[in-house]
Amino acid sequence: MSTKKKRVGILISGRGSNMMSLIAAAKAVDYPAEIACVLSSRPEAEGLLKAAGAGVPTQAIDHRRFKERSAFEAELDAALRASAVEFVACAGFMRLMTPAFVESWRDRMLNIHPSLLPAFPGLDTHTRALAAGVKLTGCTVHVVRPEVDSGPIIAQAAVPVLDGDTPESLGARVLEAEHRLYPHALALFASGRVRIAGEKVPGPQVPINQEKALFWPPFS
Ligand code: GRF
Repeated sequence: MSTKKKRVGILISGRGSNMMSLIAAAKAVDYPAEIACVLSSRPEAEGLLKAAGAGVPTQAIDHRRFKERSAFEAELDAALRASAVEFVACAGFMRLMTPAFVESWRDRMLNIHPSLLPAFPGLDTHTRALAAGVKLTGCTVHVVRPEVDSGPIIAQAAVPVLDGDTPESLGARVLEAEHRLYPHALALFASGRVRIAGEKVPGPQVPINQEKALFWPPFS
């Protein structure tokens, strides 16, 4: 395990609550990553002010300035490299990426998605989870591959769906889990404890010391 903190660039487009959970976690002396910069595809993203307030260098790269996706990505890439970023963490980054950009960060770029992938990739996950009647949903941190919301799964958290849930109430419950899952997954990744084999992440090889399954509804 490497002891030097990995430099992480976070990509956002909006409110940046997951970004803040990573920034907060990275303040711990023994956290294996430091947040080198936050880049936003939207200058008006709330997350930019939050990151700056937390002392993290920020930059807005307005995607609307570019005709070609590749030109936008070239600027993004240059900003990441200028900050000597080693790993990229997407946190509510709402731009589709070209395969070339994704490949240039292969096995060095993570994303968080608000469902238990491969269920419900794409947008409106909570509305679709409610429509499907699933009893458990959750969130996933995965390594980014060119196909949207796909790639080796590093970590997941499951959350119960409650009677009377709305997309908002369910989304809030999942978001709480996201804020715990992403720092955990990034720590595993940055400390070199994530190995990708055949597009899967094997493990963990640890004894289970808690309830082995989440049953929903509960037995009583
Ligand atoms: C989160 O639900 C994340 O899973 C998804 O976009 C949302 C971003 O929220 N990719 P925030 O900007 O981190 O608050």
